[in-house]
Amino acid sequence: NPDKMSTTEQTFIAIKPDGVQRGLVGPIISRFETRGFKLVAIKLVTPGKEHLEAHYADLKEKSFFPGLISYMNSGPICAMIWEGLDAVKTGRTILGATNPLASAPGTIRGDYALQTGRNICHGSDSVENAKKEIALWFKEGEQVSWKSALESWTY
Ligand code: TYD
Repeated sequence: NPDKMSTTEQTFIAIKPDGVQRGLVGPIISRFETRGFKLVAIKLVTPGKEHLEAHYADLKEKSFFPGLISYMNSGPICAMIWEGLDAVKTGRTILGATNPLASAPGTIRGDYALQTGRNICHGSDSVENAKKEIALWFKEGEQVSWKSALESWTY
């Protein structure tokens, strides 16, 4: 029963070092899972400075860039690919605004965070960036294509 205006997409979601340290891996995964999205890849990684600088390359001129990179490099990150209808835009809605103080209650950042520089999770902001980020964070073969038995009840 696909909604004619929407398409099945993949989005890159990462639980940042503060989210992992604060024990929020479970609750964050749970929100995507219970919404009906399908987990197709997951791993815990410490990818290093160079990789993180490539991930945030568009922000390299910003004053907060060095702080952002050292924060992202401060512990393990849980990297995931979630798949489903309108996954990119809906993923951003589930995350909330970049500044947690501007995020509505019920969003991840609105429920668990206070500061932009400690906003606990990342989500791709466009389908094009999702493709780039998935290619940067995951190797060929790390993604699992599978049919969920519950899918026919979600769609
Ligand atoms: P950005 O891509 O603008 O936001 P989002 O993560 O919501 O897509 O910024 C990337 C990250 O950079 C953001 O999650 C937190 C950090 N950041 C700061 O530390 N200070 C800032 O003023 C901004 C805009 C972002």
